[in-house]
Amino acid sequence: STTPLKVAVTGAAGQIGYSLLFRLASGALGDRPIQLQLLEIEPALKALEGVVMELDDCAFPLLAGVEIGADPTKIFDGVNLALLVGARPRGPGMERGDLLSANGAIFTAQGKALNEVAADDVRVGVTGNPANTNALIAMTNAPDIPQNRFSALTRLDHNRALSQLAAKTGASVNDITRMTIWGNHSATQYPDLFHAEIAGRNAAEVVNDQAWVEDYFIPTVAKRGAAIIDARGASSAASAASATCNAARDWLNGTPEGDWVSMAVVSDGSYGVPEGLISSFPVTTKDGDWSIVQGLEISEFSRGRIDASVAELADEKAAVTELGLI
Ligand code: NAI
Repeated sequence: STTPLKVAVTGAAGQIGYSLLFRLASGALGDRPIQLQLLEIEPALKALEGVVMELDDCAFPLLAGVEIGADPTKIFDGVNLALLVGARPRGPGMERGDLLSANGAIFTAQGKALNEVAADDVRVGVTGNPANTNALIAMTNAPDIPQNRFSALTRLDHNRALSQLAAKTGASVNDITRMTIWGNHSATQYPDLFHAEIAGRNAAEVVNDQAWVEDYFIPTVAKRGAAIIDARGASSAASAASATCNAARDWLNGTPEGDWVSMAVVSDGSYGVPEGLISSFPVTTKDGDWSIVQGLEISEFSRGRIDASVAELADEKAAVTELGLI
């Protein structure tokens, strides 16, 4: 279709936005024209105007138009895809409850606005942290939008896991399939290579080094965000933008036959994850809908790690319930 895909990006003047907008406009989602609808808070609108000047200056053939503003009911009007990137980072001396309330205010308002004005086919991807719980808040505040239209980003963790496994084995990332991130997008996440394949061979068998899996692979993937802050003095931005594009493209266009991706989606109770939590699973996508890959055997080792991350999600849900956000 040549009708532009209407894509909202929140926090568009931020670090991730500065990479994401240019990827979207240059065709990261496919060759359909796109209309960008960019949401920021008032004080950041001037900086966003500068970014829009740069988008203009790229003369992207696929960019059909750009609208900016601070009112979500205007910016989300008719959007087919909403990428919720903007969030309140944890400031000095901020307690977890403060962080959850500050983000709760953002994601309740945005969930309500999407409910009111988004297109009937809207898909909502949450990148802003705490991503799983922010997605839960937006979903709960948008009762007319089907729950399977919400997801939180664990694709960056998934890509980090692919890259670490490729480096360890000398394989190309192109040869690795069926990687899984389970649970929360946080340090408790469980990157699971036991079902992954390298050129069709079981990845754990190729690696054949349980100590590497436990002591290097899992913590390196789970703590990669902190390592990047340490090295760069700023949190991952280009890689987060890239993963946001990968996740949206696969959601809309489908996963390749024989492979799957990681997405945090609302649980139906699969793999013992309590119904209603937004937790990362192995998923396949087709025609804009995802389904959780069923029937994987979960070892005792994996079970413990999945349960620990899911317990953290349940805890975050209890905290935002207590704050009256959902
Ligand atoms: P940033 O601080 O550079 O940009 C955030 C932008 O959001 C700011 O421009 C701010 O003005 C805007 N914003 C704040 N409240 C808003 C609201 N109510 N409506 C619209 N815009 C609003 O942060 P950065 O580096 O771009 O990261 C954004 C978020 O993504 C953070 O929460 C970060 O923790 C998260 N993140 C998530 C990753 C993931 O894998 N899920 C990976 C990396 C970052």
